[in-house]
Amino acid sequence: MRFFHVLPLLLAPLALAAPEPRPNPVAAPAPAATGGLLEELPDILGGVQGLLTKDNINKLDTILDGAAKLLKSDNIDILQDILNNAHSLLTKSFVDNTTTLIGDATPLVEDVSKLLGGILGSL
Ligand SMILES: *[C@@H]1O[C@H](CO)[C@@H](O)[C@H](O)[C@H]1NC(C)=O
Repeated sequence: MRFFHVLPLLLAPLALAAPEPRPNPVAAPAPAATGGLLEELPDILGGVQGLLTKDNINKLDTILDGAAKLLKSDNIDILQDILNNAHSLLTKSFVDNTTTLIGDATPLVEDVSKLLGGILGSL
């Protein structure tokens, strides 16, 4: 799916929430701003506008095309398996042990590096 096809759907909620360009003279005064999303909306819209350069849209298009290919149904099962395996592998005990292992190996790597440096320097 082309990014341009979904772009209006992505922006529709912002368009609906955007304030009117001119205040309505008959309307009751708006309640005082209490902060939050409405107050931040102009900044958010400005940021969105800055993001929507032609270059960025082309990049997003490429990303979405890539994601669409990656997430085709054949791959969903594979990705699910990978996530399941990663989930069972990355227990707290495994992460703790691996962290310890890396901590223990670091000085060893430095020693081997010095040793190899010495050997290579003597050749
Ligand atoms: C982590 O190390 C402990 C102590 O050596 C060991 O009993 C435990 O099985 C190890 N956990 C994993 C996930 O390898």
